[in-house]
Amino acid sequence: DQPLITFNDGASLPQLGLGVWQVPDDEAAVIVKAAVEAGYRHVDTAAVYQNETGVGAGLAAAGVGEVAVTTKLWNESQGYDRALRAFDKSLQRLGRESVELYLIHWPCPTQNLYVESWKALVRLKEEGRVRSIGVSNFNPDHLRRIVDETGVVPAVNQIELHPRFQQADLRAAHAELGIVTECWSPLGQGTLLQDPVIAAIAAKHGKTPAQAVIRWHLDSGFMVIPKSANPDRVRQNFAVFDFALDAEDMAAIAALDDAGGRIGPNPATLG
Ligand code: A2P
Repeated sequence: DQPLITFNDGASLPQLGLGVWQVPDDEAAVIVKAAVEAGYRHVDTAAVYQNETGVGAGLAAAGVGEVAVTTKLWNESQGYDRALRAFDKSLQRLGRESVELYLIHWPCPTQNLYVESWKALVRLKEEGRVRSIGVSNFNPDHLRRIVDETGVVPAVNQIELHPRFQQADLRAAHAELGIVTECWSPLGQGTLLQDPVIAAIAAKHGKTPAQAVIRWHLDSGFMVIPKSANPDRVRQNFAVFDFALDAEDMAAIAALDDAGGRIGPNPATLG
């Protein structure tokens, strides 16, 4: 049985999910079906990925009822009314009547609509069309502001987090507020797989570098959504429940942290 993470609203999701960023719509249908067959029970998409239709088709083709879906509100759809309409469209594309997790994709501090968007997500949760609501790429000040203004704490904050960018400050804010840390680009978009420290740990356990890095996320208590468009690698990334890293491995990976290790955009300056 795969591990679940329980949120501050009492709901749980599988700790390991499939990420489908940059997977074209038609390929998403194939890869999602393969993932469900491999045992995945959580798929993470977003309106901006333009593959919600393929994700929905893949889930329907797999024919397994209990697969959780995360999708996200795109930046151009922020604001109370626009967020509600954008959510309807995501559900239509997915072919579902509800999703397990809906996130604000980026705070977009210049646009400054994220509090209004958050109020729309709170309503969707109250209406039962979303089981849990959360955010993505929020800094501690963005998190504190939505909590102060609405009293509703996000279930998760999905952020860039991998061994070269470990986000200690943000994790401390999550711990204080009761927010689960969910990691995008957990493999550093593949760049970490060449790292000699990771390679040595992987070899020690008879695993691949990708499996060692995913195991580090699991052993750290994070939710993790590695992306692959390749069925063999999708299966490989799920074969991580038969080993654990030891204290020495964890210390070696802790030492890879680098304040300059960010790969994606900085949320403070995007939108
Ligand atoms: P591909 O889709 O061809 O498998 P991240 O989740 O950090 O963004 O990393 C995704 C990148 O890592 C993609 O380029 C993906 O390529 C690659 N990748 C995913 N899983 C593996 C794996 N097990 N071995 C090697 N590369 C992988």
